[in-house]
Amino acid sequence: MVAKMTKQKPTSNDATKSSIWGGRFASGPSQLMQDINASISYDQRLYQQDIAGSKAHATMLAACGIITSADCDAIHKGLGQIAIEIEQGKFVFSDSLEDIHMNIESRLAELIGEPARRLHTARSRNDQVATDFKLWVRDAIDAIDHALADMQIALIDKATNHADMVMPGFTHLQTAQPVTFGFHLMAYVEMLGRDRGRFADARIRLNESPLGAAALAGTSFPTDRHMTAAALGFDRPAANAMDAVSDRDFALEFLAAAAICAVHLSRFAEELVIWSSDRFGFISLSDAFTTGSSIMPQKRNPDAAELVRAKPGRIIGALNGLLIVLKGLPLAYGKDMQEDKEGVFDAADSLGIAIAATTGMIRDLTAKPDAMLAALQQGFPTATDLADYMVRELGMPFREAHHASGAIVATAAAKGVDIEALSLAELQAVEPRIKPDIIGQLSVASAVAARTSFGGTAPDEVRARIADAKQRFGLE
Ligand code: ARG
Repeated sequence: MVAKMTKQKPTSNDATKSSIWGGRFASGPSQLMQDINASISYDQRLYQQDIAGSKAHATMLAACGIITSADCDAIHKGLGQIAIEIEQGKFVFSDSLEDIHMNIESRLAELIGEPARRLHTARSRNDQVATDFKLWVRDAIDAIDHALADMQIALIDKATNHADMVMPGFTHLQTAQPVTFGFHLMAYVEMLGRDRGRFADARIRLNESPLGAAALAGTSFPTDRHMTAAALGFDRPAANAMDAVSDRDFALEFLAAAAICAVHLSRFAEELVIWSSDRFGFISLSDAFTTGSSIMPQKRNPDAAELVRAKPGRIIGALNGLLIVLKGLPLAYGKDMQEDKEGVFDAADSLGIAIAATTGMIRDLTAKPDAMLAALQQGFPTATDLADYMVRELGMPFREAHHASGAIVATAAAKGVDIEALSLAELQAVEPRIKPDIIGQLSVASAVAARTSFGGTAPDEVRARIADAKQRFGLE
C-alpha cells in the first residue's frame, strides 16, 4: 500500500479546526500538537479492520432503528469505495485528521455527505480503536499460527529423514550422550506446539467485542452489541464498557507469546550458527540463507540465523514498552494507549519474517553425518551406557557404577582413546566383573538404540513420537 500523506502548514486559524471535534475550539492545534498526536503514519494498517467495524456498526444501527436503512446502504457503499481507494494507493492520508478512524470518516463524508455523520452514533473512537486493534491482533495470531505449523512440518520432514542419524547431544555445550539429529529437531516441534498453544489461549481471551462500549460508559441508544460482536466473529461483547475501552492486555498477551516464541527461534538459530560453523560442521546452510563477505572470499556467513537470533531484542522490547505504558494508567482511555500499536506491528512483522526465514533454513539445510560421528569420538559419550551396563548386568548401585565408569573414562583419557576402544582386560582392571558381552554395547549406535523410554532418542521411538506429533498438532 502506498501511503500518501499531507502535512498542514503551522497555523492556528479557524480553518484548521477539526471538523470532527472542533465544536468548542476557537482555533486549531499547533503543528507540534498535530505531530505528537497523529498516529495515521502507522495506524493506517488498521484500515480493513476499521472498515469492517464501521460496516458492522452501521448495519446494527439500522437494524435497531437508530439510522435508516438508506443511510446504512450509503455508508456501506462509501466504505467499500474507500477500501478500494486505499488498496489502490489513491487514498490521501492526512496528518491533520490524526488517525485512521477520522481519515476514513472524513473521506466518507466527502463521498456520501450526511449519512456519514450519523455513523458515529452510539460509538466512540475509544471502542472503535480497541475493536480495530483486537481484530488486527486476531488476524496476526492466525497468520503466526499458520506459519508456526508450517515450520513444524518442515522440522518433522527433516526429522523423519534423519531419525537414524547419530550426533552428539550436549549439556553445557559439552558432549553428553549420543542422540539422533531427528530427535534433536523434534524438540523444537514441541516448543513450537506450546508457542501455538499460547497464541491460541490469548486468542480465546481476546475474542470479546469492545464495539458499542462507546466512550467508556455505554450508550443511551437501543443498540445491540451482541449483533456487532457476532458480525465481527467475536464470541460475545465485552461485559463491562469501561474495561472494554481500557483493555490492552490482549496486546500484552500477544507480545508475551511472541517474545517467548522469538526466544525459542533464537535458540534454534544459535544452534544453526554453531552446527554450521567450521569447528562443528554438522550441517551446511544453503546459499539462499547465507551471505558472503565483502573482503574474505571464502566466507559463508549465517546472517539469516544471526538475525533470527537477534529478533527477540525488539520483540521483548515491545512487550516491555507496552507494559510500561500501561502500568499505573487510570481507567478508562488515555492517549497513552495510542502508543500500543507500533510495538505490536513491529513485533508481528519481526516474528513473521523470523519464522519464515527459519522455516526456509530448515528445509534447505544439509546434515553432515560424518562430522557428527567424528565429534562422537571425543568426550566419551557412552560413559553413561557403561554405568548402566554395570547396574543392569552386575547389580551394582548406580552411584558405584557411575564411579567405576568414571575410572574407566580416566584410563581411556590417559591412552587418548574412547572407552569403546579399550580391551576387556583394561575394563576389568577397574571392574573385574565386567563380562565379554560388554563388547558392542559401548558404540554410539547401540547407545542410541537402547534409549527406548517414552520420548527417548531411540530411532523407533522418535518415529513413534513423530507420528503422534503430527496428530497432536493437527499437521496431517
Ligand atoms: N488514535 C487513537 C488511538 O490509537 C484513537 C482513539 C482516540 N480516542 C480519543 N479519545 N482521543 O488510541
